[in-house]
Amino acid sequence: MTESLTVRDNRTGQEYDVPITDGSIKAADIGKIKADEETPGLAVYDPGFVNTASCRSAVTYIDGEKGILEYRGYPIEQLAEKSNFLEVSYLLIHGALPTKAEYEAWVHEITYHTFVHENVKTFMQGFRYDAHPMGMLMASTGALSTFYPDARNISDPDNRHMQIVRMIAKMPTLGAWSFRHAQGKPYIYPDNDLSYTANFLSMLFKMSESKFEADERLVKALDILFILHADHEQNCSTNAVRSVGSSQVDPYSAVSAGIGALYGPLHGGANEAVLRMLRRIGTKENIPAFIEGVKNGNEKLMGFGHRVYKNHDPRATIIKKACDDVFEVTGVNPLLEIAKELEKIALEDEYFISRKLYPNVDFYSGLIYEAFQFPPEMFTVLFAIGRTPGWLAQWLELVQDKEQKIARPKQIYTGERRLDFTPASERWA
Ligand code: ACO
Repeated sequence: MTESLTVRDNRTGQEYDVPITDGSIKAADIGKIKADEETPGLAVYDPGFVNTASCRSAVTYIDGEKGILEYRGYPIEQLAEKSNFLEVSYLLIHGALPTKAEYEAWVHEITYHTFVHENVKTFMQGFRYDAHPMGMLMASTGALSTFYPDARNISDPDNRHMQIVRMIAKMPTLGAWSFRHAQGKPYIYPDNDLSYTANFLSMLFKMSESKFEADERLVKALDILFILHADHEQNCSTNAVRSVGSSQVDPYSAVSAGIGALYGPLHGGANEAVLRMLRRIGTKENIPAFIEGVKNGNEKLMGFGHRVYKNHDPRATIIKKACDDVFEVTGVNPLLEIAKELEKIALEDEYFISRKLYPNVDFYSGLIYEAFQFPPEMFTVLFAIGRTPGWLAQWLELVQDKEQKIARPKQIYTGERRLDFTPASERWA
């Protein structure tokens, strides 16, 4: 089989042979197709990059039709069950599982970089009393670039490693402080005796006790949620990190851009919408009427459907199990019963079956977060902490990839041309 595409330009009658590599063609090859020497080459119009690959990546594999998600080749189900967030972070960043010595060194490094400069604290305290924690996280992550000016030296591997360690280590500190800020509670310093996720819970919830020790089941559940969110290949925020990182700026600025992208309701906000929907439904008896509303096009079943997953979202299955573990500690969220019944009815209904609509990661995550007593504004902050190693693994891949260039898409210009400028003094006379 010839791995190429023959394209005939009907404007000129000319034929072009375009090589196919890895199931794709190079946009630059299409650019060689010209109507004449004067006009620019043919461009590809693709808002939202729906069918455009922007990079080669060996970080995360997704097969949406089959419901497969793998980090560096390892299935998400196995990682969620048998690994932990710091080991998964190592895997994402380094591309392979650590030896015992490598793992211990990694955990040690991350643990001993959880503190931030005192001026970061002062900076965060300057936010308004009701500042959105995600806005605070975005700004304080960006601000770290001014505390570590050496971070701009992105061509030095040791330097890159240092910034990666710092960012994974400090993100829970910044996230927890953003949470405490809105509550008017003192910021809690990291406790380096605790694990990554247990320390995060301590910084969130510690009051006057000398040591905060969260229930191990809650620590495990939150750790799993971080693993499930750790990477998802070229999604909106990862694309933002890569796009900004392509200017060779420091990684704090690039990740801060990723946090900005995740802040948006189309990316990180669906689990909050699920909670609102479940509250509105209120009781199991109201579910059939709600489903009818969805089928008539008056409603959307939030937490169902996915652009990529058309069989099932593997993360949803794992989260559903984690729900049970969390509720064993916190008591059952009454909305869970409605959620489970809604899922059962929807999965048996022809409307949802024929459209390949299944629960996604957000269908149950909001219920878990609520059980932890997180307000909805914190949901995206938790997502950002989990996604940080993924953003950094992708950033690392980007800065070492010789094929990458500064991100600069084309446009199709639709405005005016060659207008004559009349000075204001004449126009307004
Ligand atoms: N409820 C009811 N109908 C739906 C839903 C839904 N949640 N999702 C899709 N459909 C229907 C559409 O109306 C469409 O029906 P039609 O063919 O009769 O017109 C059909 O299913 C196909 O849907 P599309 O909109 O083409 O699917 P797309 O891939 O563009 O959208 C999306 C995916 C945005 C996730 C969509 O399913 C949705 O809005 N879901 C609810 C919001 C949500 O849960 N988002 C979180 C996603 S996970 C994440 O981002 C972390």
